[in-house]
Amino acid sequence: MEILKKCKDIKCTKQIALLCAKKIKNNSVIAMNGSLGSGKTFFTSYFGKGIGIKEIINSPTFIIMKNYKTSKISLLHIDAYRLTDGEDLTFYKEKFFKNNIVFIEWAHNIQSIIPENALNIYFSITTEKGRNIKFSTTSHKYTPFFKALGKV
Ligand SMILES: Nc1ncnc2c1ncn2[C@@H]1O[C@H](COP(=O)(O)OP(=O)(O)OP(=O)(O)O)[C@@H](O)[C@H]1O
Ligand SMILES: [Mg+2]
Repeated sequence: MEILKKCKDIKCTKQIALLCAKKIKNNSVIAMNGSLGSGKTFFTSYFGKGIGIKEIINSPTFIIMKNYKTSKISLLHIDAYRLTDGEDLTFYKEKFFKNNIVFIEWAHNIQSIIPENALNIYFSITTEKGRNIKFSTTSHKYTPFFKALGKV
């Protein structure tokens, strides 16, 4: 499945991230790609708001991984900007599907451990406030999310 959303402003990206928060279930890996400043952290932070995380979610570039929790959900936010596929990535791989939702920025850098059934999100900058956001996956578990996306 693949769907492209053409956002003209920040409000649109927020709305989609909040929708994603409603529809995405536990045990998911979200593999995000797209250039610097395209909205990967922004999207993750509104997803976090949507699932009830009170802390501010910001970029984990230097510490690579942050964990946020509500009473029900654990969100792991990984920034693979400084990682490469040649390294031993077992530490990160072991975190997947352990009763959590894992958001990964610069997922292409660690593509060898990205699960086949991940939800892929590709962000591209169109204008100052415009972003094209392409969602793709091979997994049917995201069908309800894709259906909802088609309506916004
Ligand atoms: N429609 C939009 N959607 C998302 N962000 C937008 C939009 N319009 C403007 N922005 C701005 O673009 C910036 C996106 O920054 P963000 O940190 O999310 O990028 P990133 O993809 O995580 O970059 P990096 O690769 O450096 O981590 C924010 O300052 C945000 O306010
Ligand atoms: Mg970022």
